[in-house]
Amino acid sequence: GSAATEIQRNTSFSTLNVDDISYFKEILGEKNVIQDKDVLLNANTDWMRKYKGSSKLLLQPKTTNEVSQILKYCNSRRLAVVPQGGNTGLVGGSVPVFDEVKSCHVIINVGSMNNIIAFDKVSGTLVCEAGCILENLVSFLDDQGFIMPLDLGAKGSCQIGGNVSTNAGGLRLVRYGSLHGNVLGLEVVLANGDVLDMLGTLRKDNTGYDLKHLFIGSEGSLGIVTKVSILTPLKLSSVNLAFLACKDYFSCQKLLLEAKSKLGEILSAFEFLDNQAMDLVRYFWLEKLKVLNHLEGARNPLHSSMHNFYVLIETTGSNESYDREKIEAFLLRSMEDGLISDGVLAQDINQASSFWRIREGVPEALMKAGAVYKYDLSLPVEKMYDLVEEMRLRLGQTAKVIGYGHLGDGNLHLNISAPQYNDAIFAQIEPYVYEWTSKHRGSISAEHGLGLMKANKIFYSKSPETVQVMGSIKKLLDPNGILNPYKVLPYLLSSYH
Ligand code: FAD
Ligand code: MLT
Ligand code: ZN
Repeated sequence: GSAATEIQRNTSFSTLNVDDISYFKEILGEKNVIQDKDVLLNANTDWMRKYKGSSKLLLQPKTTNEVSQILKYCNSRRLAVVPQGGNTGLVGGSVPVFDEVKSCHVIINVGSMNNIIAFDKVSGTLVCEAGCILENLVSFLDDQGFIMPLDLGAKGSCQIGGNVSTNAGGLRLVRYGSLHGNVLGLEVVLANGDVLDMLGTLRKDNTGYDLKHLFIGSEGSLGIVTKVSILTPLKLSSVNLAFLACKDYFSCQKLLLEAKSKLGEILSAFEFLDNQAMDLVRYFWLEKLKVLNHLEGARNPLHSSMHNFYVLIETTGSNESYDREKIEAFLLRSMEDGLISDGVLAQDINQASSFWRIREGVPEALMKAGAVYKYDLSLPVEKMYDLVEEMRLRLGQTAKVIGYGHLGDGNLHLNISAPQYNDAIFAQIEPYVYEWTSKHRGSISAEHGLGLMKANKIFYSKSPETVQVMGSIKKLLDPNGILNPYKVLPYLLSSYH
């Protein structure tokens, strides 16, 4: 987009040459040094098809030592490196940028490092390589009677290393907390090739600065995560999922408070979508299912489709009859009090997954609907939906404004959907959305990160002094600025000539 013309390129990077390729082949073997055009096209394009790079080289190391050798070499040669996982990131962080003139970017994907190293049932600690796909970890743990502490719509493609690097939130954060709490240890390779072994499995370890936290959420700008140790909760036998309708946003808020107080310890998700989001998903699924000639699945499970808001409430506990009683009583009470206007409790696991498909299908439905301007905001819950309504007033008929997200965590996904990207629409959205968020002391990135999209917007949520310290840390760990250039921090802070 237009950002390409605003940003001054880092001229200190070298151009990739044949000797570089030979060196990489020597350390990784021919087949892990990828120059195939089709593979590279995918690796250069992000999930939203919004950000595109021109890298001519993708490396697929199989060991930490290989990652270390690659980085050491790239650092000495001043080749830029883009760490990539499942490439499901939503802020343009996972693809190279500004490399169309000079071929100076190498993409490194640790997807071949996908072994489970250890699992300890007593403590619930899983140690694995960073390239493990989230869904594969979920299946592995399922057999052991455990679950991952995070769950998200991209689980079939995203890698645990990518999740850690973005500090992904997702659908279970309300119960299990963020990766800053669940990640117990990491192995990370720094820009100069040094390997930091912080792969502990201890719950408690107050020996000096806890450096692993620097890498959780640093989006590949400080090092490459190669191994992860993570705390996993036991899989509890009783899971209930309710799909509910509310007449207004105020009722959604009251319902959240009620759910926290009446479902308490068993509450495991509290998600919402508005009717605009529901319309998009319904249309998307109807089209898809028509093709599949199968009309079950993700249709609106509620009889009437005229509700303003939909809420998914999940409970997870250990006592089936008690949990069921608890949620049924809660639903009855909420219905009587007028907080919910309609609702269904999933009767089996298939129905529960069809409810989840509605909520998890929103990002994909938005992609199919056309151009999408995506915002991921933390805001005080009572203010959150005001922004959606204000944006509807600002944009009128020019675009659809869609609100959904992790209500239980105060995280709004504000998405603006238009037939095409359009400067006039964009000018109505930015900087307004960021200024509004900043005014309400919210965060301009609740869970997706800053990537390229918001690197220069960091000051809306962080003070200059704080960003300055971030710049110093970046300089200390990556003095040549080779790791994920132009991402996370404003350009002049993250690159050095
Ligand atoms: P990538 O997209 O490949 O990379 C993301 C960032 O991490 C990049 O900056 C990259 O350089 C860096 N990175 C990747 N691997 C490494 C590594 N090993 N070492 C160092 N840096 C690395 N996010 C949420 O928080 N909650 C959600 O609910 C959620 N749902 C989603 C649903 C869909 C359908 C999609 C498409 C995305 C969703 N996301 C969500 C966004 C995304 O952040 C996550 O999908 C995921 O955490 C990214 O993992 P990945 O392996 O695809 O990383
Ligand atoms: C979600 O919660 O669905 C994800 O964060 C993806 C998105 O925001 O579109
Ligand atoms: Zn989300």
